[in-house]
Amino acid sequence: MTIIDSKAHHAGFREHYVDNAKPVWDIGRPQKPFIEHASDIRGPILDIGCGTGTLAVYFAKRGEQVTGIDFVEEAIERATAKAKSAGLNIDFMVKDFFTISSWERKFQTIIDSGLFHIFSGDEVRKAAYLEIVSKLLSDNGRLYILACKKETGIDAGINADEIFETFHERFIVESLHEFEAETVIGAAENAPGKQWLSYFAVIKKR
Ligand SMILES: C[S@@+](CC[C@H](N)C(=O)[O-])C[C@H]1O[C@@H](n2cnc3c(N)ncnc32)[C@H](O)[C@@H]1O
Repeated sequence: MTIIDSKAHHAGFREHYVDNAKPVWDIGRPQKPFIEHASDIRGPILDIGCGTGTLAVYFAKRGEQVTGIDFVEEAIERATAKAKSAGLNIDFMVKDFFTISSWERKFQTIIDSGLFHIFSGDEVRKAAYLEIVSKLLSDNGRLYILACKKETGIDAGINADEIFETFHERFIVESLHEFEAETVIGAAENAPGKQWLSYFAVIKKR
């Protein structure tokens, strides 16, 4: 397995969480497509890049067993506090996604709200991502990806082609649709209330 150095990414993301900052993506509720697919999303669930744990808490409240990882300690501290105040038992861990390839556990579902798109154009990270999700998903398990669409003038984002190209050999891309993701109103990184054009993909392991 290729060793991936996440230091620069980590420093960039940490900035969004330190000093109680509110990241532009942290709307405090799941983005709509996760709610629409909720009844199909079954545990054990792994939430990769879980941030402050909004999605993990949502699915734990629905009775699913959830593990959440994020490499930013401040995000996991907030996620752990949310779970505690809701009386939920969620396994939140500070972990770099690229270090969990050695896990022997299997998950029925992996949810990714805003992680995969970070690796747009990075063939090494996309290949490592594919290896890891392939290993950790149960047979017939599903991966749900919310990814911002690449648009001119926006740094983050991915093309639909990259999603198909990454997964088509080992997974079935069951659906992929565009929608407008909500963002935090008044967040420093964004114009107030602006929405981000995004993809939501349901990807099944063969
Ligand atoms: C766009 S944010 C989305 C957070 C959360 N899923 C949500 O929807 O609110 C992406 C998250 O992925 C985390 N992240 C990025 N690269 C990571 C990595 N290599 N390992 C673990 N977490 C990572 C960031 O710290 C950040 O919290």
